[in-house]
Amino acid sequence: MSDLTESPAWRELQAHFAELKDLHMRDLFEQDAQRFSKFSTRMGDILLDFSKNRITDETFDLLLKLAKDADVEHWRDQMFDGEPINISEFRPALHTALRNRSNTPVMVDGENVMPKVNRVLEQIRYFSERVRGGHYRGYSGHLITDVVNIGIGGSDLGPHVVCDAMKPYAQRGMEVHFVSNVDPTHLTEILKGVKPESCLFIISSKSFTTQETMMNAHSARDWFIRETGNKKAVAKHFVAVTTNQQVAADFGILPENMFEFWDWVGGRYSLWSAIGLPIVLYLGMDRFEEMLEGAHEMDLHFRNTPLEKNIPVILALLGIWYNNFFDAQSHAIMAYNQYLRRLPAHLQQLDMESNGKTINRNGERVDYLTGPIIWGETGSNCQHAFFQLMHQGTKPVPADFLIPAKSKNPLGNQHCVLLSNFFAQTRALMMGKTAEEATAELKADGMDDEQIKEVLPHKIFEGNKPTNSILFEKLNPRTMGSLLAMYEHKVFVQGVIWNINSFDQWGVEYGKVLADDIMHELKTREHVDAYDVSTNELINYCMKLKFTD
Ligand code: F6P
Repeated sequence: MSDLTESPAWRELQAHFAELKDLHMRDLFEQDAQRFSKFSTRMGDILLDFSKNRITDETFDLLLKLAKDADVEHWRDQMFDGEPINISEFRPALHTALRNRSNTPVMVDGENVMPKVNRVLEQIRYFSERVRGGHYRGYSGHLITDVVNIGIGGSDLGPHVVCDAMKPYAQRGMEVHFVSNVDPTHLTEILKGVKPESCLFIISSKSFTTQETMMNAHSARDWFIRETGNKKAVAKHFVAVTTNQQVAADFGILPENMFEFWDWVGGRYSLWSAIGLPIVLYLGMDRFEEMLEGAHEMDLHFRNTPLEKNIPVILALLGIWYNNFFDAQSHAIMAYNQYLRRLPAHLQQLDMESNGKTINRNGERVDYLTGPIIWGETGSNCQHAFFQLMHQGTKPVPADFLIPAKSKNPLGNQHCVLLSNFFAQTRALMMGKTAEEATAELKADGMDDEQIKEVLPHKIFEGNKPTNSILFEKLNPRTMGSLLAMYEHKVFVQGVIWNINSFDQWGVEYGKVLADDIMHELKTREHVDAYDVSTNELINYCMKLKFTD
């Protein structure tokens, strides 16, 4: 048993769960007209309505006790203060310093890091304004019209979700493309759509050693030289974002075209750093700084708001309630906004690479579930893909529903229809439909008793499906920054309560090393028997199929 599962709060929650699990939210709403005001909170125009959750006052109090017992506030302060909370890499986790718009000192090993954070922001502003203003041109004088970001994981997903989401704020005539997969199709297809003379490649890699990124970077450089016949021009068309300046220089990146960040910024938390360069080239520095301000606003909310009204803390506690007491294996993100279609992909890395852990901070195997499987789809598409399971399946799937009140693209009453679906789905998931209600509907449709008897079981909805509704005025850079920071802090609070280190990712290393070994075998194109019979036979069959290099 662990301290967590032995703790009074955990044991009280277990006992409470036994009583609560058969309560229906319908009844909880019936019994308490104040349920919404009690279980909702605001930060600026961002409203979190968490009243459609399977909680009572007692549940909420016990969950808050769990946070108190885990000393969430202390760990929070440790993180903001630059303490080395990433214990297996002996590093701070200071993505919050990157958006510290108050510019108060943040100390790392006795150094206030804010001057260098601000220096890089200035370097990014200067460079982006030259490119967007047409002063920084290609080797043959062409305007830069296309930016290709070559990166993977946190060096791709964060900037990618933001560029997708902020498209309405983008400068016309500037396109941003993202290449991440080592599958040659990814780079090949992107290169078909750009011209070397007007294309700027950003090699984004904290380590500057990631296999996929370096292969794509070299292939892009080869393509550029082949297409232009001008090797010297590489220096003008390739820039780097990295902590590893030496290797970037070896690639041919000019010092003035290197944008640094630091090892106290985790990859999945790095979009606020120079990794956000594609965002800045696409939207402009002012918009990027608005995003930083939105994130900083959420940081201040997280730091200063009492736990019971603290949005990231509440999301974290509710996630633990379902993950650890209802045995929910996943958490779904339903963004009712087409610009947020890549949000689940970003949150998958943020959450699952942070909290997909089995060993706690004491080096012991946990005896409880940790990070959930994150997935999702835009609304209303989700309703036509998997809402059958959400409504009538056997698996509990807690979900966040997000929507802006205002659309960037008013079209007839379509946004209003989207809103109606958003409100209807969260209500239907909560209320369900009783046999009596279903029978009345079927009678009204003219069915006879025999037919109703046949159909009725399939028309009943158990309901009691929990959702969080996150409603805000509009999806602008500031709100985008706040929402992304909200999820970062949710993940952090869950990691604290689960007593795991959310800031390392040793689990991603093993597969990479094995891939290198197998690559050597594939290159020989000779019969393989070095591995398990499955791997051997797969490789040997692939050889028979005369695989592509
Ligand atoms: O997925 C493993 C990982 O190390 C991520 O944490 C990181 O965001 C990604 O690979 C890319 O790493 P780099 O930015 O060093 O290329």
